[in-house]
Amino acid sequence: MTADIKIFPEPAKLAEAVAVELKKASKQAHEAGRRFNLVLAGGSTPRAVYQVLALPEFKSSIPWNCIHFFWGDERCVPPDHEDSNYRMARETLLDPLNILQENIHRIRGENDPETEAARYAGEIKNNLKPQSGKTPRFDWILLGLGTDGHTASLFPGAQPIEDRSGLCAVAIQPQSGQKRITLTSRVLNHAKRVSFIVTGKSKGQVVAEILNESPASQNYPAARVHPGQGTLEWFLDANAATKLKESY
Ligand code: 6PG
Repeated sequence: MTADIKIFPEPAKLAEAVAVELKKASKQAHEAGRRFNLVLAGGSTPRAVYQVLALPEFKSSIPWNCIHFFWGDERCVPPDHEDSNYRMARETLLDPLNILQENIHRIRGENDPETEAARYAGEIKNNLKPQSGKTPRFDWILLGLGTDGHTASLFPGAQPIEDRSGLCAVAIQPQSGQKRITLTSRVLNHAKRVSFIVTGKSKGQVVAEILNESPASQNYPAARVHPGQGTLEWFLDANAATKLKESY
């Protein structure tokens, strides 16, 4: 599968491009009378995207009530903890846009991890309503990228403990030992659209290893994200793209 690589001079331009894409895609869903099931990325990179989406231009032009918000992963902390991916999204996006509570499907980091992985998997199934035995298919999954090639909370060399449905798993952040709940590769690879959002020089090496398909990247979870029936995109700023071959 070929990835669509989009390189922007600076993070602000990247953020605006993602916002324009969400406007287009959500309006299409709204006009077709459909929900738009969106998975938000965790970490710090997406903050700029969420802040742009909350600007008046997008606040007034995106059909927010048709968008349902999910997360690709969450740290096992309370929702008001400084590490919480939900908290960051609530502060930058959900509260400023007055998103309806029933449209917010957060991972409850305060719960017992194994129990929550199963509960969140159930919430996904109840909302996306896949055919029996089929994997739920998100409209768009936004992902970040770690310098070690992890994405969501799928870490190299780790064997996350999957819930019975195989949709969610409990993972451990290798440096901190922090427990995480994450979507599995299976869910990522069933999405209609998956977009990595990567900025900064520190990510240049790992981006190049993945997109140049270097041997080092073979064990990177991010390198194994290939939505077979969907599209794969990389939104990069110039700094994250510094080590890519000129061909991109
Ligand atoms: C998380 C993310 C994780 C993140 C990368 C990049 O919960 O931390 O899901 O996969 O996207 O670690 O993080 P930064 O954007 O902070 O570099």
